[in-house]
Amino acid sequence: MSDTAAGFADWIINVQTRTERALEHFLPASVLAPQRLHEAMRYAVLGGGKRVRPLLAHAAGEFASAPPEAIDAAACAVELIHAYSLVHDDMPCMDDDVLRRGKPTVHVHYDDATALLVGDSLQSLAFHLLAEHCPVAPERRVTMVNQLAIASGSRGMAGGQAIDLASVGVALGVHELEYMHIHKTGALIRCAIRLGYHCGEIEVDAAARLDHYAATVGLLFQVVDDVLDCEASTEALGKTAGKDAAANKPTYVSTLGLTGARERARELHAEALDSLSSLGAPARRLRELADFVLTRKH
Ligand code: IPE
Ligand code: IPE
Ligand code: MG
Ligand code: MG
Ligand code: MG
Repeated sequence: MSDTAAGFADWIINVQTRTERALEHFLPASVLAPQRLHEAMRYAVLGGGKRVRPLLAHAAGEFASAPPEAIDAAACAVELIHAYSLVHDDMPCMDDDVLRRGKPTVHVHYDDATALLVGDSLQSLAFHLLAEHCPVAPERRVTMVNQLAIASGSRGMAGGQAIDLASVGVALGVHELEYMHIHKTGALIRCAIRLGYHCGEIEVDAAARLDHYAATVGLLFQVVDDVLDCEASTEALGKTAGKDAAANKPTYVSTLGLTGARERARELHAEALDSLSSLGAPARRLRELADFVLTRKH
């Protein structure tokens, strides 16, 4: 491995480790009542996941010279919303999946009502974290809470999920497909990057460039998710492979074919790097993360 690759690999492990520690700290202990709910929240969040959104938040935060402790709170808030979205996404009324992050899904390991309440509680905890534990100026914090609310709700992730469910069996064109993905996956990824740089200081022009990067990486992330659903094994993914085709979901692969989807991924990756071209060394981790999102195997 080259020095640069080794440096990035160490950086990833460092951010993943500090994110795990922070999540562990912020989640209620399972000895606290109601114990089953708290245990299930910890089951859903801890010990799994690539932590891509926290990685992006830290890369954007470092770009803006933000204090790592502030980025931790923002990164965990986004990861909690993401974990909640996965718990609900897996429920029988949505994608009906039994495996997530290599373990039985929350509704399988516990029950449907617990899975609903885990999602509700993780969502509230995310906003509590930002409101109380993110050491940035109060006006900035209000902006961040508002951005997370919009990215999570009907104009962001939840809205995208509604379109996803309404699109079963529908042959979407590429524009409609991208509209869905920009919301269901892109909104939270974009928000992770915004919350990261809001923890520090950034010029207006650089913020616009990071926003453009975020939009392209958000889409890229879902193109790769769709390709992996088709190509990777259940064992490698830690979630059931081949679910999209089995459930008749419109995806990049169903719309563009595997070759077309891979080509779209390369285009988005190039566009993401292009957005950062004038930003020099401080944007290095963001560039490396675009490569990571393109080449990930799970
Ligand atoms: C999977 O997200 C769901 C999508 C938004 C496509 P990730 O691939 O980030 O899942 P984890 O967090 O690593 O398990
Ligand atoms: C899930 O998309 C997106 C959200 C959870 C918001 P998918 O349904 O494609 O995610 P996986 O493939 O189950 O992880
Ligand atoms: Mg889904
Ligand atoms: Mg799913
Ligand atoms: Mg998927």
